[in-house]
This record gives sequence, structure tokens and C-alpha cells, in this order.
Amino acid sequence: MKTLLETLESCLHEAIAKLGLELPDGFPVKVVPAADVRHGDYQANTAMALAKRLKMNPRDLAAQLVEAMDVALLAENEIAGPGFINFRIKKEAWSTKVASLIGDSRLGVPVVENPQNIVVDFSAPNVAKPMHVGHIRSTIIGDSLSRISRFLGHNVTTDNHIGDWGTQFGMVIYGWKNQLDEAALSADPLQELLRIYRSVNALCKEDESIKDACRDELVKLQQGDEENFAIWEKCVEVSKVGLNKIYDRLDVSFDHWLGESYYNDALAPLVEQMQGEGLARESDGALCVFSGETLPPKQDPFKEKRDGEWRDFPMIVRKKDGGFNYATTDIATVDYRLQEWNAQKIWYVVDARQSLHFQQLFDVAKRRGSQAELEHISFGTILGKDGKPLKTRDGDLPQLADVLDDAIKSARSVLEEKSSGLSEAEKETLAKVVGIGSVKFTELSHHRASDYIFDLEKMVALQGDTAPYLQYSFVRVRSIFRKLEEEVALDGEGISIQEDGEVHLARTLAKFGEVLPTVLDGLKPNVLSSYLLDLAKAFHSFFEACPVLKSEGDVRKTRLVLCELTGRVLEKGLGLLGIQVPERM
Ligand code: ARG
Repeated sequence: MKTLLETLESCLHEAIAKLGLELPDGFPVKVVPAADVRHGDYQANTAMALAKRLKMNPRDLAAQLVEAMDVALLAENEIAGPGFINFRIKKEAWSTKVASLIGDSRLGVPVVENPQNIVVDFSAPNVAKPMHVGHIRSTIIGDSLSRISRFLGHNVTTDNHIGDWGTQFGMVIYGWKNQLDEAALSADPLQELLRIYRSVNALCKEDESIKDACRDELVKLQQGDEENFAIWEKCVEVSKVGLNKIYDRLDVSFDHWLGESYYNDALAPLVEQMQGEGLARESDGALCVFSGETLPPKQDPFKEKRDGEWRDFPMIVRKKDGGFNYATTDIATVDYRLQEWNAQKIWYVVDARQSLHFQQLFDVAKRRGSQAELEHISFGTILGKDGKPLKTRDGDLPQLADVLDDAIKSARSVLEEKSSGLSEAEKETLAKVVGIGSVKFTELSHHRASDYIFDLEKMVALQGDTAPYLQYSFVRVRSIFRKLEEEVALDGEGISIQEDGEVHLARTLAKFGEVLPTVLDGLKPNVLSSYLLDLAKAFHSFFEACPVLKSEGDVRKTRLVLCELTGRVLEKGLGLLGIQVPERM
């Protein structure tokens, strides 16, 4: 189904053709939603831009265009200022639109014309450590972008590129051999791994010989020592179990879990090839790629450290000691994704602090002939109420599991007052849906590049721009249908949009299909979040102004269909953010 915006754009195209005007190559004919609905529903500035090109008077051209446009859809159109066209959609056209939306399982969202193979690399924690609050952002943003792209018709592959081969294993294996508490390990493996990791990490800072011992364990692992390999395997296995518990709570899943270790065998031949092609060369004993074109001098964050001979900071692909690293692995990972999955786009949802790494990686990929579009979807930091990065009282990053528990507890206390009619078991389930939903919505309602303050009280509040507000709006829609005594056919028959409240709700519902695709323009789920808040507000104003159950005939039917559509779009939209809706609250 075409959106109204698309329909208007093609009407405008036809009008231009009808007037016999020559449209310059690639000239954009664009219609946008009106900034202020008092002046119209949509707006176009095509007449101004085109008049300039064709040396015509812009207001005259606007008037001619309006005259030539197919009017079935449109009421009086206004020409404003130097030649803006404001389009006003006719009430009958809103009725037709609502009638078609209620019969459309996609709720008016068009399928993309050019489906792409998109690989989404997100979450990707380092194993042998529990996930901490910093993993919220990548996990939740990546999951929702994957859901949205899939719904729009792209071919999406999600991959959890876990850090299962890092230097942390030197310490973990040393700790495993010297400090492991078997009982604690079977009770809560991830906590025990974290404990030994922290304790050995502290020892290393005091004692050089322990640091050396850890390095030896790492080297043994890398050389395939059987005992160390078995310990490593065990660590990865229990870590995955622990990680999956969190992903289950978050309702997040992956098509693949190809961690860093998956690429081990590919690294030596890869580096050899890069050296052979002259892409990598030795410098100070390490093998490096100098990413000459990536960093214009002004943006070079390592200006001070820059090697005198080379303008830019190199990407090390083989360390002095002969070992490979994170960067080498990521190059091999690009190869795999291109070859095996035919990736046309790869999205890396990773902390902004890794931006240099990704600039280098993307540059190297391009120089090795990749045509794929690689994108670093970066994000800022989660802050505490003091405006500094969120930390526990001990100064550690809070564990993700604890953050979720706290959110559920806060949600529960809000619901305790609100939902007195529910059983204990119902309240518990509801607190999970609301608590987890709150964490996700807070994440997804901010622009990803900005830092935000993690304020539990605010995010679980029923008022404000929150998940509970949206979930409650859904519940309110559902409760109308529970009160309904008769059977109503929820179809397009007899729909008649008349009142302002109805028009505004219809207009907002029709926008779903226009807004959703734009989320992918800047890879910004917050665009969908603010749309859903607009929808809930439009619904509440409609509901106040237009009685539903007290009305009759076609009016009643029309309003019930508007309610039903609101419920469907809220459920779908929240679902695309990974947020569930409750039936009651
Ligand atoms: N494990 C990395 C970290 O915790 C993130 C990995 C992101 N993905 C990638 N292909 N580099 O920082």
C-alpha cells in the first residue's frame, strides 16, 4: 500500500508532466508532513525550487501545479509565502485511508523496493565477565534496528561477535588453576569467573611475576596447550549460558554467535596475504596497515602520537610478539560476512570510543576491494544522576542483571498502587513487562549519540515519555473492547471520519508507514519512539473528545476501528522496539 506521502509525490509528478514542464535530471519532488497541522497535512517546496530552475514565478507555478493535481484526495490547498504548497487531505480521503489500514496486516508500512542483505553486529560482550550496564545500549539498539529492518523487508542476519579470545583469558586461566572455588563455580559460574578475574587482575597490578605467569598461560592457550584449551572451552560454555539468561529476559536473540575465536585459523593466511599485496608492512617489529585516507588531519585523535614517517596512526594486524589482535579478527570477520552471507551492509553497534578502530577497519575493507557499506552505529554513555558514567558504590560498572532487577522492582512499586485489581502472579509478570520495557524505551527514546541519565523513577512513571505510558495507552484501548457487548466487524465498511479528534488520530495512524522507513535514514530508533508518543497523545485527545461506547451507528463503528488501529500500531511499534504490551495494567 502506498503512503499518502508517496501518493502526493506521484500526483505532483503527474501534475508537472501534465503542465508539460521539463523536470531536470534527478530533480527531487518531495512532499513532507506539515510542521504545523493548522496549515495543512503535508507540504511541498517543489514549486519554489523548480520555478528557479525554469525561471518562472514560484507562486504562479505553485498555483498551476495545484490546479493540475488530481483532486480526489485533496481539499482546498493553500499557497503560502514565496510558493510553498500546503496540502489539506479531504475528510473522505481520511475515511478511505482508515478503511484500507484496517484491512492491511502491515498497517500501511510499505515493503522496501530494494531489499538488502544486512548483517547486524551487536551486543558482543567479552566473555568470562557478566554483562554490565554498558552493554544495554548496543544490545537494545541493535535488536530494535534488526527488527525494524526485517519488518521493512530487508534480509537481516544478526551476529553476536562475542569477545571469546581476548587477553583476559591469561588471567582467567591463571585464576582457574590457582583460585577456583568449585562450589561457587557450579552455583553461579559467571560470578565465580568474575571473582577470579578481578582478584587476579588486582594481583597483577601489585606483582609483576603474576602478570608474567598470566601471560604464559595466554601464550600456552594460543599455542594450543590441551589443559588451557579445555579450561577456555569450559569458560566460554558457562559464559554463554549466563549470557543467554540475560538475552532471554531481554527477549533478544541472534542468528549466529560467531565470536572472535571462530576466526583464529583465518588470521595467519590473511595477514600473509595483506603483506604480500603490500597493504600491510612492518614498522617497529609489528605488521601495520597505514590508513592514509581515513583521517583528515583535523580529525586525527592521535595527532600527537603520530609516527613521523606516516601521517596517520597505523592499524596493527600482527603484534611484535607475533600475535594477532582484535583488528586482525575484525578484518577476517568482514571477509566471512561478505563471502558467506553476501553482506551488502554491515552495521556495527558499538560504543563511540571504538570509532578509530572502525574507521581503520572500513578503510582496510575498501582497499581490499569490498563494495559493502560498512557502518559504525555508535552511541554515547549511560550516566548516573550525578551526570558521571553510571557506577556502583564500589566504583564498578553495575551488572546488567542487577539493573534489570532494579527496574522490575521500581515498576512493581508503581503498579502496586495502580493495579490493585490484579493477582500477585499477574503483578509479577506485569512488573517484568513494564520494568524491562522501561529500560528499553529509555534507551530508544534518546538520540543514540547522546549520553543519558539513568533515572529509574522517571523511566517507570506512568506519566511522561515512558514505556508505561505507552503500555497503558494500549491497555486502555483493549479495555474498550472488553466492555463492548456486541460483535463489531472491524473492517472498512461505513467508515466516516468527521470530528477533529478523529481526523487527527487518522492522520497520526496514517503516518506510521511514513515514519518507520525513516528510522533507517540515520539508524535512529528514537524516531519511532517519538512517533509512538505522538500516537498515544493523539489517541488520548481523541478519546476525551469523541465518546466511543456511547456513540451509535457509523460513528461508533468508525471510532472503534480507530481504537483498534491505535492498539495494533502501538503493539507493532513497541514490538519493533523489542517492548511487549500487557493486556491489563
Ligand atoms: N567485544 C567488543 C567489546 O566489548 C565489541 C565487539 C564489537 N564487534 C566487532 N565486530 N568488533 O568492546
